[in-house]
Amino acid sequence: MSYETIRIERKDKGVVWVTIDNPPANALSENLMNDLEQLVDELSSDRNARVVVLASANEKIFVAGADLKGMIAGGSQFAGNESGISEQSGRMQKCFDRFATMPVPVIAAINGHALGGGCELAMACDFRIMAQGRGKIGLTEVSLGLIPGAGGTQRMTRLLGRAKATELIFFSKRLDAQEAFEVGLVNKVTTPESLEEETLDFAEELAEGAVRAMGLAKEAINAAEGSIEEGMNVEANAFAQTFKTGEPGVGLAAFFQRKKANFLPKK
Ligand code: COA
Repeated sequence: MSYETIRIERKDKGVVWVTIDNPPANALSENLMNDLEQLVDELSSDRNARVVVLASANEKIFVAGADLKGMIAGGSQFAGNESGISEQSGRMQKCFDRFATMPVPVIAAINGHALGGGCELAMACDFRIMAQGRGKIGLTEVSLGLIPGAGGTQRMTRLLGRAKATELIFFSKRLDAQEAFEVGLVNKVTTPESLEEETLDFAEELAEGAVRAMGLAKEAINAAEGSIEEGMNVEANAFAQTFKTGEPGVGLAAFFQRKKANFLPKK
């Protein structure tokens, strides 16, 4: 299969190394979403794929989240098209959920910023290994007047508990690797130079194990958390509602003007 924004390398022991390369920021553009959807289709029917690693070609960004430029460009449609927006959110939720339910271990090798949808994609993986020093991880949507719309409200709450998830989401906290490790958002911290090697060692160790059993354990672990579906629907609808509040206009304009957004009502 051919891809525009990702590269796939098949390494020893059935490790599939996927490099996301969608300049300038690895934002989740239409092209990248198409490729991720095609990738899960390809991997799902590949019995030789024992462990999947998602990595980035960008020096300091893993994935910078939803395509904010696309969002601005599509702004006028967004205003009047609530069901279209929740469909877009649903599309990302479904795509990321296919990584979360893939019957082999999936690892995010986070070399730099994993913000918004980048954090959501990483949270859909079984493991997050993050390099200290090049970037931050977090659900930053509220700072833009949006909410996480690709499973983030559901997955962060499940991973970290309600209290921590609420704090990180409301304040749009960006954590460095060490802080993320301390709250349990990442499993392991490395230096930028050793990220690839340490992730590969970790992936190979998993690949040497009974990956079919891991896949079945993953199914049961997912079941232990209860159905995520209802929460996903609420999240997609709530994401669409944000476009009626007027806040995304303020947040997105401030982002592109490199200013802090001021959401207080004008006097
Ligand atoms: N969507 C589209 N383009 C994005 C983007 C996004 N999510 N994030 C960054 N970019 C673009 C910038 O507009 C810039 O483009 P330009 O070179 O044409 O001006 C380029 O990527 C580099 O970004 P820049 O902000 O200049 O780099 P930086 O090193 O100062 O900061 C980030 C990198 C990722 C920390 C910063 O861009 C950022 O905070 N992005 C938004 C992340 C976010 O909140 N995502 C959630 C979306 S819901």
